[in-house]
Amino acid sequence: MSNTEKRPTLKAVRGTRDLLPDQTPLWNRVEATARAVFARYGFGEIRTPVFETTELFARGVGEETDIVSKEMFTWEDRARAASEKAQQLTLRPENTAGVVRAYIEHKLGETGQLQKLYYIGPQFRRERPQRGRYRQFWQIGAEIIGPQSSGAESAIRDAEVLEMLASLLDELGIRDWKLELNSVGSAEDRVRYNAALREALAPVKHRMCEDNQRRAETNPLRVLDSKDEADQEIIDALPKIADYLSPDSAEHFAQVKAALDACGVPYHLNPRLVRGLDYYTRTTFEFTVTTGLGTQNALLGGGRYDGLSEMLGGPRAPGIGFAIGEDRLILTLQAQAEADGTSVAAGKLDAYIAPIGVEQNPAALKLARELRSAGLTVEVGDGSFKIGKSFGFADAVARKIVLLGEDEVATNVLTVKTFATGEQVKIGREQLAEALKA
Ligand code: HAM
Repeated sequence: MSNTEKRPTLKAVRGTRDLLPDQTPLWNRVEATARAVFARYGFGEIRTPVFETTELFARGVGEETDIVSKEMFTWEDRARAASEKAQQLTLRPENTAGVVRAYIEHKLGETGQLQKLYYIGPQFRRERPQRGRYRQFWQIGAEIIGPQSSGAESAIRDAEVLEMLASLLDELGIRDWKLELNSVGSAEDRVRYNAALREALAPVKHRMCEDNQRRAETNPLRVLDSKDEADQEIIDALPKIADYLSPDSAEHFAQVKAALDACGVPYHLNPRLVRGLDYYTRTTFEFTVTTGLGTQNALLGGGRYDGLSEMLGGPRAPGIGFAIGEDRLILTLQAQAEADGTSVAAGKLDAYIAPIGVEQNPAALKLARELRSAGLTVEVGDGSFKIGKSFGFADAVARKIVLLGEDEVATNVLTVKTFATGEQVKIGREQLAEALKA
C-alpha cells in the first residue's frame, strides 16, 4: 500500500469500548467510593492475572454453564521452550475462581484468619453485545473466605456482605434497588433437589427448547435460569428448592434473613434464583434496578461457595462474595441523572491561563507550575489565545481565566475573569492561588 493511499480505519472490537475522559471521572468516583466502603469493612485489595488456565474455570464455574460452554475466550498457548508445556488458557470470565486459586496457592488459609478480599478489573465473556452487556466488562467484587474455624461459614458473613452492598449502593446514590435472595442449599441438598427436578422434567422436557432438554439431563438446576419465553410456564411449575433444604441449610438461611431484618435491609425471596455458575451453595442473591438497564437489570450477583476451594484442589474453605457489573452501575447512575435533569459530568478545572502572545508562554507555564503545586487544577494556553474570540474554549474547560500579557508579567498583577458571573478583577500574584480556589 502506498503512503498516499487511504488505509481503512480500525475500530474497537465488537463488545469492547473505549472510556474517554468525559466518562472516566464517574468511573473513578464509583471505584473510589467502593474502595472507601470496602476499607470500612476490613477488606484488602487483591489483583489476580487477567488470564488463567482454562481448567480453573472449567472446574470452578462448571463445564455445563453458559459461561464455560460458550462464552470463554480460550486459546492454545504453544510451548516456547523445551522447559514449557503447551496449555489451554482463558481470559477470565469472572474473578472468584482466580481469587480462590490465589487463596489456595498462597496458603492464605494457614493464617487461620478470615480473608476479606476485593478486586476491581475487566472480565471477558463472548456474549451477544447489547446495552449493559459487553464482551469486555468491568466488575467490582469482593470475597470473604477462610477456614471453618475463622467463622467463614457463619450466616453473619452473608448478612454483612448484603448489608455492605446496600450501604454502598445507597452511598453511590443508586435508587430503587431490589435485593433478590434465595438459598440453593448444600451440595447434598442439591443432589436431592436435582433428582426431584429430573423427575419433574422427565414427562415435560420434550416440550422445551433444545438447550433446556440438554440441561434437563446434564444439569437440571440450569433449567431454572433459562430465559426461554415458551418454557417459563413449565419452569414455574417445577419443585422449589426451599422444600429440599436440610434442617442445617434452612437454619443458616433463617439466620441470614434474621440479621438482614435486624439491620433493616429489605429483600425479596426468589426461589428461582439459582445463578448461572455451578459453585454456589446456600445463599444466592442479586441486586436489580428498574432504571437504565432494560433487560440486563442485574446490577450485581453473588452468593456462597462452600465447596469451591475443594473443587480446585484446596483445603476446606467456605466463602461468600459478589461482583458488581461496573458498566451497569454507571449506566444506572447516568440514567438516573438524566431522569432528574442533573449531570454526572466532571467539574471544570479551577483556571485557564491564557498567555497573550507566544512571548508570554514561558511565564504562563511558570505560573501554571506555581498554581498546580498549590493544588489547583490548571490548563495553560499556548500564546495563540485571542481575547474575546478564544474565551469559549477556556470557558468549556475552566471556571476562571487568568490573562497573562506583557503588563501582567511586568507588574505581577493579574487579570482574572469568572465565567459564571462575568466578573473581572485584578489580583496580585501572592493572592492568586487563594482567589482561584474561591
Ligand atoms: P455474575 O452474575 O456472572 O457473577 O456476574 C456479576 C455481575 O457482572 C452481573 O450481575 C452483571 O452486572 C455483570 N456482568 C456479567 N456479565 C456481563 C457482561 N457481559 N457485560 C456487562 N456486565 C456483566 C459472577 O461473576 C460471580 N463471580 C460473582 C460472585 C463473586 N459470586 C461469588 N463471588
